[in-house]
Amino acid sequence: MSDAELNQALQELAAADAATLETWRIKYISTKAIKDLMAPLAAAPREQKRELGQKINAAKQRLLAGFEQRKAELGSSKSAKLEIDVTEPGRRPRIGNRHILMRVIDELTELFARMGFAAALGPEVEDEFHNFVALNIPESHPARDPLDNFYLSADGANRDGANRDGANRGHQYLLRTQTSTVQIRVMEKQRPPIRVVMPGRVFRPDTHDATHLSMFHQFEALVVDRGVSMVDLKSTISQFIRAYFGEATRFRMRPSFFPFTEPSAEVDVWFEDRQKWIELGGCGMVHPNVLTAVKIDPEEYTGWAFGFGIERIAMRKYGVTDIRQFVENDVRFLKQF
Ligand code: DAH
Repeated sequence: MSDAELNQALQELAAADAATLETWRIKYISTKAIKDLMAPLAAAPREQKRELGQKINAAKQRLLAGFEQRKAELGSSKSAKLEIDVTEPGRRPRIGNRHILMRVIDELTELFARMGFAAALGPEVEDEFHNFVALNIPESHPARDPLDNFYLSADGANRDGANRDGANRGHQYLLRTQTSTVQIRVMEKQRPPIRVVMPGRVFRPDTHDATHLSMFHQFEALVVDRGVSMVDLKSTISQFIRAYFGEATRFRMRPSFFPFTEPSAEVDVWFEDRQKWIELGGCGMVHPNVLTAVKIDPEEYTGWAFGFGIERIAMRKYGVTDIRQFVENDVRFLKQF
């Protein structure tokens, strides 16, 4: 390589940018380029080898060193442009957030935990005993109509093959229509005193609109002990509503009917923005037949229960006006919470 050729190479290097540096490297200092650079040495007469070798080596060193220097220059100007401080701790990328309904369930469970309530879960596929029979809902009750329930076989046949009118009807399966089923499951396993909340999914063949979904969530509560009265029920609901929605929140209890409570009431909360009472769900004193079904003596123990709609609670708390938004999976909706 002549001095002129070396100067040319170094000039090209000085003009190279991040994009053309690799082309320069291949042209002048790749394995093949270095081989070509050394080639004259083998052909040179013996007495010239030493001097030529030194010259070629000097050129090679200048090319290699020049390359490293240029690479460092380009590299540092690039990082300056991006303003990356490699000494900063890493930042966790946004990967999404918990669904608002799951957060409300956590908030409610936590709030009731502070009032001494344990939490329990039950299966979403239930049998008729837990969904109806033990809850004092007789065979003839309209709530058991196939049109109002997701039974798990169309003709009503159960696992044992008995027909809907057969003797084994109590073993037929369905998607639970209420979390009250979990009250039964808790009382089958546990003796009083009982203080428990039971959140979960429930299913009903309802047409979807702004206030109805065929799958929604309920928050159930159950207290069974000696001397438990309606006063405990109302004061617990009152504390819950004030703690969760704010001190000034208005609510009311209206007399109602449920087969598994006596007396029963419905709980409404005042929606200030809509100037409207919205029903949260039902409550009441546990019916003696329910206690008897799980072998708890109703002469010795009394209890109260409630079952509220979690979507309605979330809507009241976070100002959601259409229940369908919870399941539409629109990121713009979901990431607000
Ligand atoms: N299970 C009822 C429903 O789905 C709500 C309910 C009413 C639950 C009264 C209760 C209760 O625990 O005591 O509509």
